[in-house]
Amino acid sequence: MSIEISPSILSADFARLAEAAASVAGADWLHVDVMDAHFVPNLTIGTPVVRSLRAATDLRLDCHLMIAEPDRWAVGYAEAGADGVTFHVEAAAAPVKLARDLRAAGVRVGMAINPGTSVDSVVGLLPELDMLLVMTVEPGFGGQGFLEMCLAKIAAARQLADRDDLELRIQVDGGISEQTVGRCARAGADTFVAGSAVFGAAEPAAQVARLRSLASDALAD
Ligand code: DX5
Ligand code: ZN
Repeated sequence: MSIEISPSILSADFARLAEAAASVAGADWLHVDVMDAHFVPNLTIGTPVVRSLRAATDLRLDCHLMIAEPDRWAVGYAEAGADGVTFHVEAAAAPVKLARDLRAAGVRVGMAINPGTSVDSVVGLLPELDMLLVMTVEPGFGGQGFLEMCLAKIAAARQLADRDDLELRIQVDGGISEQTVGRCARAGADTFVAGSAVFGAAEPAAQVARLRSLASDALAD
């Protein structure tokens, strides 16, 4: 599966989101972290900002919903202009129905698992998804350290997807940097979210290209 890079605007200047989007030309997606101060102890943005971003950039919007009751809210993000919507299995009351509702809304369907949620516990749901997001930090904040224990989960997810012949993207999010992107790629990830590593760099677009080449070099080794 081709490598995709999704810079997270959580690490950008929230007063200048259009400029942040323009600064990562060449990325495959723009990762939009939605937090509600319930599911995670942080509060960010909602559908009005997604709608404005939709008008401000041609990049596909990868909305990561770290919110309670995604069953109630997720389709609204598709309607606001998201191209991909990822909900957390820990928060969903009816994940199969939610995945099917999102599919009907025409977006890439993603489901996220926290570091403490095993891949085995969600194996039955994988055929409903386009993407599994294996969180590599506890969700809520940018700039945290990569959790090494998640590498085995990435590998387990890739193995299950291959075994069952699923067209499943495996996304990683949290602590993805020049130091960790290659190891995640080797473990089986193909879709990489990076916040501080991209927006903390002097040239964000060049950093997107660098992460992409480090991931593909790791696969070529
Ligand atoms: C954290 C968010 C991430 C965050 C990653 O809960 O889901 O998308 O922006 O930030 P970095 O790449 O700095 O770890
Ligand atoms: Zn995220």
